[in-house]
Amino acid sequence: MTFVEAANAPLRKTGAIKLYGPDAFEGMRKAGRLVAEALDLLGDMVAPGVTTEALDKRALEFGLDNGALPACLYYRGYSHTICTSINHVVCHGIPNDKPLREGDVVNIDVTYILDGWHGDSSRMYAVGPIPRRAERLIEITHESLKRGVAAIKPGATTGDIGAAIQDYAEGERCSVVRDFCGHGIGRLFHDEPNILHYGRRGEGVPLKPGMLFTIEPMINLGRPHVKILGDGWTAVTRDRSLSAQFEHMVGVTEDGCEVFTYSPRGTEMPTFQQG
Ligand code: MF3
Ligand code: CO
Ligand code: CO
Repeated sequence: MTFVEAANAPLRKTGAIKLYGPDAFEGMRKAGRLVAEALDLLGDMVAPGVTTEALDKRALEFGLDNGALPACLYYRGYSHTICTSINHVVCHGIPNDKPLREGDVVNIDVTYILDGWHGDSSRMYAVGPIPRRAERLIEITHESLKRGVAAIKPGATTGDIGAAIQDYAEGERCSVVRDFCGHGIGRLFHDEPNILHYGRRGEGVPLKPGMLFTIEPMINLGRPHVKILGDGWTAVTRDRSLSAQFEHMVGVTEDGCEVFTYSPRGTEMPTFQQG
């Protein structure tokens, strides 16, 4: 595995992992904070009857109003600002004019480019009261992400992150989606390394200060297998079981990591309403 100073690296995937300095961390802090603010704002809009298209429109406006560009818009032919993944949709759900319904769970994934730096984060939201098994899946998925983040420090490996997530999620009788992973990020949206949400301790890439990446586990109540719908984007569970995802963006520091995408008001997790 080779590592390079990001400042000297071309603006494309090169096979080497880029290591970023303090200026990049400052840029990522700002980009991360803006997506976290967007997720707070969009979460306040989630309710029965609201369309995912309305959330998408608000996300675009909020980004532009704050000097950011939507990274997903026209990315590989995608034509929206956010992804909205409902119930058995694993990821990359496309916003549409169908109203959210009471009992749905929805992941909203926002990526902005602010001053050339990408901010990428997603959270789960409950549409009114939801079934207890959906609440449990959301809690387990959030805890999986927390355990992945806790495994990050220089000298640990990407396999340590994956193992922390997999051991916990499978211990709770859930499954980890294999078809999508976290990714290096920075001036590029999707860069090296891949961050798998399963694996073995000590395997994979050693973590070094200055690495920037996302962790974004997708956890299913049923089997891990997914299929892509005819629109070419929407990934769903093959067994139609419920799926949940949370995503944070982190930078590796000398003694652990900095999470750039915490909610400024501390509302990472939805508060569940009584049915
Ligand atoms: N935000 C997603 C991620 O976490 C990527 C979405 S790509 C899109 O990497 F084109 F579907 F928007
Ligand atoms: Co991501
Ligand atoms: Co994302």
